[in-house]
Amino acid sequence: MFENNTVPHPPTAPALAAAGGTQMKAILCTRSGPPDVLQFTQVEKPIPQDNEVLVKIHAATVTAGDVVLRKLSPWLALPLQILFGVQRKKIPGHELAGEVVATGKAVTRFQVGDQVFGTTTDLRAGSYAEYICLPQDGMLTPKPHNLSFAEAAAIPIGGMTALYFLSPGSVQPGQSVLVYGASGSVGTYAVQLAKYYGADVTAVCSHANFDLVESLGANQLIDYTREDFTQNGQTYDLIFDAVGKRTFPHVKDSLTPNGVFRSVKSTTREKPEALLFLKERAEAGQLKPVIDRRYPLEASVEAHRYVETGRKKGNVVITIA
Ligand SMILES: NC(=O)c1ccc[n+]([C@@H]2O[C@H](COP(=O)([O-])OP(=O)(O)OC[C@H]3O[C@@H](n4cnc5c(N)ncnc54)[C@H](OP(=O)(O)O)[C@@H]3O)[C@@H](O)[C@H]2O)c1
Repeated sequence: MFENNTVPHPPTAPALAAAGGTQMKAILCTRSGPPDVLQFTQVEKPIPQDNEVLVKIHAATVTAGDVVLRKLSPWLALPLQILFGVQRKKIPGHELAGEVVATGKAVTRFQVGDQVFGTTTDLRAGSYAEYICLPQDGMLTPKPHNLSFAEAAAIPIGGMTALYFLSPGSVQPGQSVLVYGASGSVGTYAVQLAKYYGADVTAVCSHANFDLVESLGANQLIDYTREDFTQNGQTYDLIFDAVGKRTFPHVKDSLTPNGVFRSVKSTTREKPEALLFLKERAEAGQLKPVIDRRYPLEASVEAHRYVETGRKKGNVVITIA
């Protein structure tokens, strides 16, 4: 039942020992629809190819993108797959942290016992499961040593997305940066990255999230439910819309003459160097993941219901015993 597009070589002794059986618990999503389409079940445990590691997943997340993909109509799924390579996975989940429990015979970058974190973005398999096989040269890197599995799992997608729009060198010390939607996953990382680069950061979020966003380093706070920042006469060198609710025509008068507007709605690309950069920032105490709620794997339906509200603060984690 587990999907893998290449033929597996026979299981190695360590793989079998580590796997401790041929079945694993997982969430399956075989059709589009409401959260209830997610089924908690048993599937075949994957076996690593020569170039893959078998990871025992300790934590995954429910991202805003997971919810979009779950709801995606079959009519839209095919064009999205052809045009952007985006596909709904039978086992959902794009972020994970866990431990390498077996390695394919060509693996040189990882060994059994390594604690890792990464994404499944270009793979057919997802992370709402006890185990996953990941290519050693994919989006996988050692876990920040000072973070728990849950914290590490909450970094890759939100962190790499924020880093894509706020890359090193794109923000100079002293520049003014406005992060719109500062309390989501992408927004909480964007605030921290802008602060790390030495910017003066204005965060736009609801009043309920002021303390959270201030604790991440924001210098000024604007409650979007009470004030439209485009009407206050202030201008910014960079306006980053981290929730995709604003457009250039709406914000253009709030930009400095050379100011730039970026929206999370643009297409991004994941890079292994980005994951490594985020790991280093986390280990240096310059980046901390915000975890709103944690759900066990079997409660993935409830986790999806919550993320679907669009009100999560930072990240929602799935813990896998
Ligand atoms: N381009 C990419 O590669 C990429 C990657 C990751 C995510 N994304 C996209 O980025 C967006 C953000 O995702 P996310 O996971 O960071 O957050 P999210 O779960 O989509 O958003 C949650 C946060 O948004 C805030 N929010 C909701 N409506 C708002 C509004 N009108 N103005 C300001 N804040 C508002 C909420 O705070 P309140 O409850 O206080 O309103 C909440 O804290 C999603 O659309 C996602 O699909 C794109």
